[in-house]
Amino acid sequence: MNHSRDTLIAAARAAAGAAYAPYSQFHVGAALGFADGSVVAGANVENASYGLTLCAETVAVARAMNDGARGGLVAVALVGGPAGKVGAGDPVTPCGRCRQVLSELAQLGGTDPVVWSEGVDGVLEVKLSTLLPHAFGPASLG
Ligand code: THU
Repeated sequence: MNHSRDTLIAAARAAAGAAYAPYSQFHVGAALGFADGSVVAGANVENASYGLTLCAETVAVARAMNDGARGGLVAVALVGGPAGKVGAGDPVTPCGRCRQVLSELAQLGGTDPVVWSEGVDGVLEVKLSTLLPHAFGPASLG
């Protein structure tokens, strides 16, 4: 199933409204689009111990996998920025840890999801394999 870019971005934007980001004030929403048409979203969850922060993408992957997802990830939409200005700056790309977390779910189903990130000048579109080439994954363990 092909997800509409704009619909998935709208889901990410809606998710960003649930961000808990009192330290950075940087709200991020992520929406995962699956081959069966389902969408699972998440927002960042910060912590007073800053390094324990969970990014939006990781929250979304954990949600999806706790709901039983083991592949089928075909698209990822991201939007982020200061509260009230989400999507008004440069497009947000997943941090290194989130690239790896997204890649695990993608590799389970043999997909290479498209990543859409909305910024002030439009939508950046890039494949996950471009963001994380030569990825380590389930198959790497033999
Ligand atoms: N953040 C995400 O949720 N996803 C990203 O792709 C980049 C960064 C969050 C982590 C932290 O809560 C805030 O944005 C500022 O780094």
